[in-house]
Amino acid sequence: MAYENILAAAENGIGVITINRPTKLNALNRATIVELSEAFNAFDEDSAVRVIIVTGSGEKAFVAGADIAEFSEFSVEEGEQLAALGQKLLFDFVHNLATPVIAAVNGFALGGGLELAMAAHFRIASDNAKMGLPEVSLGVIPGYGGTQRLPQLVGKGRAMEMIMTAGMITAEEAKSYGLVNHVVPQAELLDFCKGIALKIMKNSPVAISKAIKAVNASYTTSGFDVEIVAFGESFGTEDFKEGTTAFLEKRKAEFTGK
Ligand code: COA
Repeated sequence: MAYENILAAAENGIGVITINRPTKLNALNRATIVELSEAFNAFDEDSAVRVIIVTGSGEKAFVAGADIAEFSEFSVEEGEQLAALGQKLLFDFVHNLATPVIAAVNGFALGGGLELAMAAHFRIASDNAKMGLPEVSLGVIPGYGGTQRLPQLVGKGRAMEMIMTAGMITAEEAKSYGLVNHVVPQAELLDFCKGIALKIMKNSPVAISKAIKAVNASYTTSGFDVEIVAFGESFGTEDFKEGTTAFLEKRKAEFTGK
């Protein structure tokens, strides 16, 4: 199937999905989210594909977040819909996929990018990768599961600090937090992930899909719904207008707290 914003190719039982908008640092606009959902679904339904790797094109970014230009004019309702639809189509979908998903984090994984990596079953980073949830610097909150999955992966205190400071951590820090499992040189990232995929493929696919379901069952939380509502509410604030406008105008935001 031909896609506009992503590449998808399967070889030797491994499906590789590459987000391919390098001039926008692979930011997730609506069309990309829909294509990603379709590609994950197609690989999941193909019994020849035993492991899926998701990565970003180019050497700079995995995904630099949701596409700020696309949502900067959204209302409260549109904001809420954005989070709810994205979670359903992509982030929850990947989280619950029966086929194992490895995120190969090859550069910036910010906002929706880190949220996509966290929705994958586990993550491997290249040594230049930088990760963070910068949403509050735009006057909004993480809306694709970040407020839930980050504390699950790194603990509440570290997650709170990362979310409140909107800062980035290095690949090595992410490894020490347990956010990524391994850090490897960028040129070796895909082969390293494929090596792990080969180990997974020696095992029973049906047992693996049941294991994914069982592991996920211990992380069930109603917080995802709270996140969607709070994300939507952010769109009604002056701080959100200021934060997104400042990003698009390439200047520092001046927040008033309104
Ligand atoms: N949404 C839309 N466009 C984005 C984007 C995003 N999340 N992240 C980057 N881009 C675009 C930039 O606007 C720029 O486009 P332009 O060349 O048409 O002006 C292009 O990608 C390159 O980004 P730029 O900011 O020039 O690269 P940089 O190396 O100076 O900075 C980042 C890299 C990742 C630090 C910076 O792009 C950034 O802060 N991005 C936003 C991160 C964010 O807040 N994500 C959360 C969104 S909810």
